[in-house]
Amino acid sequence: MEAILRTENICKYFGGLKAVQEVNIEVEKGIILGIIGPNGAGKTTLFNVLTGTYNSTKGKVYFKDRNITNLKPEKVTGLGIARTFQNIKLFKNMSVLDNVKIGFHTQTKTRMIDAIFRTATYKNDDRICEEVGMELIERVGLKDLKDEFASNLAYGNQRKLEIARALAVNPDILLVDEPTAGMNHTETLEVVKLLEKLNSEGLTVIIIEHDMSVIMNLCHNIVVLNHGQKISEGPPEMVRHDEKVIEAYLGREE
Ligand SMILES: Nc1ncnc2c1ncn2[C@@H]1O[C@H](COP(=O)(O)OP(=O)(O)O)[C@@H](O)[C@H]1O
Ligand SMILES: [Mg+2]
Repeated sequence: MEAILRTENICKYFGGLKAVQEVNIEVEKGIILGIIGPNGAGKTTLFNVLTGTYNSTKGKVYFKDRNITNLKPEKVTGLGIARTFQNIKLFKNMSVLDNVKIGFHTQTKTRMIDAIFRTATYKNDDRICEEVGMELIERVGLKDLKDEFASNLAYGNQRKLEIARALAVNPDILLVDEPTAGMNHTETLEVVKLLEKLNSEGLTVIIIEHDMSVIMNLCHNIVVLNHGQKISEGPPEMVRHDEKVIEAYLGREE
C-alpha cells in the first residue's frame, strides 16, 4: 500500500480541550477515505491540522513521505492538498468562472501590481486561468452557469463550484468537509456522483460526512473519531458493525 498522506500521533489542543488526540491515519493513494464521528469529535480540527490551517500541538503529518507538519496553508495547497470548507466560502458577487479563476492564485506569476496595471504577465496568466477555469467548470458540470453570480446558484451547485475552485491547484488529494450538509436528496446524489467521478479520474479524496448512506456507499475506508480519538477504522461493512462506533453514536443521542 502506498500512503499518499499519513499522520503520526497528531494532537491538537485548545487550552485544556483535547480536540484531536494521538491520531494516526494512513490514506492510500487513489481511495476515498471517510472521516466520521459525532458532532465535536474533532473531524474539522483534524482537517485544519492536515491543511496547515491550525498548527498541531504534537505529532507529524507526511504527504508523499515529506514532512509537512505545520507548513502554511498556501504551501500545503501548493504541494497538492486542496480542501473545501464546512461552510461554503465563495465570492458571492463574482461569476462562477471568476470564482474558479481565483483558485489559481497559487499557480500563476501574477502579483497584485501586475493585476492593477494589467501587465503582459497578468494578461497571459488571465488567459490561461480562463481556459483552465472553463475546463474545471465543465468537469464539475457547471458550464452553462459560468456567468452566473455565485450567490444565484442552488446550494448543490455552490458546493460543486467550491470543489472546482479547489481543483484549480491540480491537487493529488481533495479534502471535503460535510459537502452534502443542508442539501436535498437530488443535490446530495449529484455531489456524490461528482466525487466518485473525480476519484475515478485519479483524485484521492478524504470526506467528512454525517450522512451515513453517503459514507457507506462512497468510501473505501472509514476512520471514526470520538472525543478527538480514533476509535475505529476499516471498510464500511466492518465499521458499521463495530460496537465502539455504535456506542459513540448512540451515546450522544441520550
Ligand atoms: N478554534 C477553536 N478554538 C477552540 N475550540 C475549538 C476550535 N475549533 C474547534 N474547537 C473545539 O474542538 C472540538 C472539535 O471540534 P470540531 O473539530 O469542529 O468537531 P467536528 O468537526 O467533529 O464536529 C469541539 O469541542 C470544538 O468546540
Ligand atoms: Mg466539523
